[in-house]
Amino acid sequence: MQTHYERIGGEEVVRKLVDRFYDLMDQQQNFQDIRELHAKSLKASREKLFMFLSGWLGGPQLYVEKYGHPRLRQRHLPFAISELERDQWMTCMIQAMQDLGLEEDLSEELKRAFWKTADFMRNKEG
Ligand code: HEM
Repeated sequence: MQTHYERIGGEEVVRKLVDRFYDLMDQQQNFQDIRELHAKSLKASREKLFMFLSGWLGGPQLYVEKYGHPRLRQRHLPFAISELERDQWMTCMIQAMQDLGLEEDLSEELKRAFWKTADFMRNKEG
C-alpha cells in the first residue's frame, strides 16, 4: 500500500504544500490570528513543518532525525490555541491542498488526519 507521502507526490509536493500554506497565512486577513502567533519571518516555520510533514505522511523522518521526538502538543503550549486558531489553521491547510489540486480521496483523508492533530493542539477554552 502506498503511503500518503507517495500519494501526494513526495518531497517536491510536500514542500509546495507547506509553501502555499504559509503564503496564504501571510497574505489572507482571515488567518491573521494564527499569523500573529508566528515570528515575523516564516522561514524557520516553513522548514520545520516541511520536515515534520515528511515523516508524518510516511516519508523520511527528517524532523525526528534532526530534533528528536516532536512533542508537538508541548511545543505549542506557549501559544494560546482555541477552536478559533484550530479552525483558522485547518481552513488555511484545506485551501492550500485545494490550490495544489490534490486528488479528492487523498485530501479528504488528510483533512481528517490534520483535524485530529490540530484539535489535539488546543490548550485554551473558546
Ligand atoms: C491548531 C492550530 C495551530 C496553531 C495555531 C499553530 C501554531 C504554531 C506556531 C505559532 C508555531 C511556532 C512557529 C514559530 O517558530 O514562529 C508552530 C510550530 C510548529 N507547528 Fe504548529 N500550529 C497549529 C497546528 C499544527 C499542526 C496541526 C501541526 C502538524 C500537523 C503543526 C506543526 C508544527 C510544527 C512541526 C512546528 C515546529 C515545532 C518546533 O518548534 O520544532 N502545527 N505552530
